[in-house]
Amino acid sequence: MDFAIRIFFIIPIFGTYFTTAEDFGYDGSIGPTYWGERYQECRGKHQSPININVLRVKQVALPDITFIGFNDPIDNVHVTNNGHTVLIEVENEPHPRVSGGPLDGTYVFSQMHFHWGDNDTLGSEDKINHRSFPMELHMVFYKEEYNTVKEAVTHTDGLTVLAFFYELDRHQHPAYDDITSALSNVTDPHSSIVMNNPFSFLNILPYDLRRYFTYRGSLTTPPCSEVVIWLDFEQPVRLTHEQIEVFRELRSASGKIRHNFRPIQPIGDRTVFYNIDSNYYTYNEIDDPEAHTEWPQTRKRGNSASISRISLSYFTFMLILCNTLG
Ligand SMILES: *[C@@H]1O[C@H](CO)[C@@H](O)[C@H](O)[C@H]1NC(C)=O
Ligand SMILES: *[C@@H]1O[C@H](CO)[C@@H](O)[C@H](O)[C@H]1NC(C)=O
Ligand SMILES: [Zn+2]
Repeated sequence: MDFAIRIFFIIPIFGTYFTTAEDFGYDGSIGPTYWGERYQECRGKHQSPININVLRVKQVALPDITFIGFNDPIDNVHVTNNGHTVLIEVENEPHPRVSGGPLDGTYVFSQMHFHWGDNDTLGSEDKINHRSFPMELHMVFYKEEYNTVKEAVTHTDGLTVLAFFYELDRHQHPAYDDITSALSNVTDPHSSIVMNNPFSFLNILPYDLRRYFTYRGSLTTPPCSEVVIWLDFEQPVRLTHEQIEVFRELRSASGKIRHNFRPIQPIGDRTVFYNIDSNYYTYNEIDDPEAHTEWPQTRKRGNSASISRISLSYFTFMLILCNTLG
């Protein structure tokens, strides 16, 4: 299986899909309010970002996510200012990939980029209980069976985006120093460099990759295609104010990119699922739940009644998936 993937790998075409013309922005007559005039899909009913109301989510225990190549040191990491954000792309083959969780099939890494705000009180796209975070990372993957991003965006399960929130810390996050020093060389729009040091995905992600929210939505930039399975990881990455400030120095054709997040969109008839750690319940069936004191006590869980409730809701979730996914 993996052998076949290595032979028939996909040659990436850097930034062609997501970085077309500068025909949209975040302010004035090209701002999010007007995207729908040019891009019909931006007026759709299943748009992103959304506010996630934690009281309304449906708890599920999905299969584990498999992260492939996330621990490998990657050379030749391209960092590009596309006039809207900073894009990080990789050349190595095979690309990192992801499967499991709510995903049916394997998804191949395409690019990652960031969204931020004017100051540390806002900047994330999705919100949790109306809370904004100062920045958000989007790791974009396309479904392997569609071969290219261009083809994938024509299917409702074409893309998955792993989204990570940032939070302020007094201590610098060392893995982000390489990124921020690269950023200082791409402050001009449409400039690009190759990073000096090898880079591993896992180093820039939070520790807990088991708890996440998942829902179906869209690209948050034009053409706003409703083809994205979103996974919003609950645990934020912690950076200093200074590390986030570096992003605000990047420039578009019309000056500094002070903010590049789309406002939240109506959730409509959609359900947000909240994945709790399925392994925890497996442990619980043999162990005394009280012994696991390292688990946060704020969420009530851990008796056999909730185990059956969770597996029931997982079953329901799979049923809904089977009914809604084409
Ligand atoms: C942060 O930026 C927003 C948007 O420009 C502004 O409304 C708000 O007052 C700012 N907050 C602070 C604390 O500077
Ligand atoms: C970016 O510029 C700084 C100097 O401003 C330099 O130290 C660094 O090596 C450059 N390149 C990269 C890829 O970060
Ligand atoms: Zn994004």
